[in-house]
Amino acid sequence: MKALASTLLAAPGTVPELCVDLDAVAANTRLFRAATDADVMAVVKADGFGHGALDLARTALANGASWLGVTSVAEALPLRAAGLRAPVLSWLNPVDGDFASALAADVDLAIPGIEHLEAVCAAARATGRAARVHLHLDTGMARDGASPALWGRLCRAARRAERQGTFRVIGVMGHLACADLPGDPENSTGRTRFAWGLDVARASGLRPAQRHLAATAATLTDPRSHHTMVRIGAGLVGIDPSGTTSLQPGLRLTAPVVSIRRVRAGTGVGYGHTGITTTATRLALLSLGYADGLPRAASAGAEVLVAGRRCPVIGRISMDQTVVDLGPTGRAEPGDLATVFGPGDDGEPTVADWAGWANTIEHEIVTGIGARVRRTRIAKPLRSLS
Ligand SMILES: Cc1ncc(COP(=O)(O)O)c(C=O)c1O
Repeated sequence: MKALASTLLAAPGTVPELCVDLDAVAANTRLFRAATDADVMAVVKADGFGHGALDLARTALANGASWLGVTSVAEALPLRAAGLRAPVLSWLNPVDGDFASALAADVDLAIPGIEHLEAVCAAARATGRAARVHLHLDTGMARDGASPALWGRLCRAARRAERQGTFRVIGVMGHLACADLPGDPENSTGRTRFAWGLDVARASGLRPAQRHLAATAATLTDPRSHHTMVRIGAGLVGIDPSGTTSLQPGLRLTAPVVSIRRVRAGTGVGYGHTGITTTATRLALLSLGYADGLPRAASAGAEVLVAGRRCPVIGRISMDQTVVDLGPTGRAEPGDLATVFGPGDDGEPTVADWAGWANTIEHEIVTGIGARVRRTRIAKPLRSLS
């Protein structure tokens, strides 16, 4: 497999390519499996954080995860269509979402309010399929989930629906706003709200088997947040928002050099001539731009690895093209492979570097790689290729 991986990376590619390292995902999943006694839900939304939802789901399930989590029903159904049988939770749908299809496919649904509860009950009655739901309490995001003021009413309505027989409360969920900052007092506030929400649910007669609050950061930093299940997305793909744990990055983005040009000192490059060469130099053109996920905001600081050397991007990253300054003695030729980001072991920039240059987070970089970029995958760690 190492030979296969080397071939994939050494052969001059003809198109930009995103190589997904599923062994990194496997190792990360095992780390989370070992970090908690709770069940591990693999969050595979946004096409598996840009790593391929099915590949991420299968790899995580094979390495200790036992649930899958996504936002919409539309993200859940392909998992079932591909034959995955693990429980799947979909937590973000409009009130007129496709609940009938979700019930038919045995997809659990999160319920953030009475309107959703009524819509899901109606779908259950219409299809004759019992709904499996997770009541969602807003534990401090002011985003999704029922506000504490409405929580008691929601729990009582859910219990009434259970008694009617087409509705089962499988879980209660919350989400922490500041888990990436383990010392932030908002974390204990969120935990306390969640504990209160569970008490209210129990007092309403509900017996949710799954109680889940923690995502990657809280799972790594605060066992008090684990309850019966943790929901892990970023961590599976090597991103630790808390910055406490070393995880394995799972992506390498490469692009062949399309052409080389020699220019004089003082040459303006790209739109607006924001980059001007300071010496006579060689410029390499890559056929990757912001439509492919290279953030335009990173233009000023970004670098890529070409022919073993870090070279700066010069001028603005445009929609389809990026120009790299090889320097006067830079030796790359058309067809050579530039590494935009990777694990970093060979000196190439990392996803974290790109996030820093673009003043964003790693999540935005990995989920932003466009559909034009060809996807490949390897099953041996990218780290071992040097
Ligand atoms: C409700 C919910 N749970 C879990 C996750 C996974 O979080 P993380 O990627 O930090 O593991 C997300 C992602 O944003 C989410 O929205």
